[in-house]
Amino acid sequence: VTNESQRLRIAIQKSGRLSQESQALLTSCGLKINLREQRLIAHVENMPIDLLRVRDDDIPGLVMDGVCDLGIIGENVLEEMSLQRQLDNETYDYTVLARLDFGGCRLSIAVPQEENYGGVKNLEGKTIATTYPRLLNRYLKQNGVNARIVNLKGSVEVAPRAGLADAICDLVSTGATLEANGLKEVEVIYRSKAVLIQRRDLTDSTQLKLLKKLMPRIQGVMQANE
Ligand code: PRP
Ligand code: ZN
Ligand code: MG
Repeated sequence: VTNESQRLRIAIQKSGRLSQESQALLTSCGLKINLREQRLIAHVENMPIDLLRVRDDDIPGLVMDGVCDLGIIGENVLEEMSLQRQLDNETYDYTVLARLDFGGCRLSIAVPQEENYGGVKNLEGKTIATTYPRLLNRYLKQNGVNARIVNLKGSVEVAPRAGLADAICDLVSTGATLEANGLKEVEVIYRSKAVLIQRRDLTDSTQLKLLKKLMPRIQGVMQANE
């Protein structure tokens, strides 16, 4: 199913690093959102817009499949999903409408603090735990390194201590998580920010008109934040 309703559907993260600022951006653009609403769908009261509050990992797929018209998502998750769909010969079309001014982080490789790290070649033959196997695989290939990738959905940072991996590849923002787990960042493989994406086949004229009204507001909010 694609979104055939007239209401514009925007997918945002329900809870996590991007959710507060995603909501704040939309609120600043004039959308009246009932913030107490803990439901999956939040109806915007003053515009024909529905917010779908979902897991961040689901957002790229929802937009690529045309189930949602817009989405706010980290480039890291978006790029990982694009690579996955490319490899699986599935559609991965979307348009980036704006690079936003929040959600900044880097996807980095980290090793135990006591390790004597001398460069990417040190990872040869090692096991690396990550939630981003395709981004990591691309990086390792580009650097001619053969390593084993262990795919974990969460708690990646404890993998070395648990004896599941020699290194990890995970998001770093402040670095507190690495620090708390006795790890040090040794390679940055991807720099990410939140982006606003649109499904490729958005053709409904009412929805396009609304989008045309929203975009300058979004640009305005970002300029005001500078
Ligand atoms: C990321 C990452 C770490 C944390 C790092 O998780 O997996 O847990 O952020 O941040 P820090 O450097 O400031 O300590 P995220 O918030 O993206 O949640 P998720 O992994 O559940 O999607
Ligand atoms: Zn996530
Ligand atoms: Mg995490």
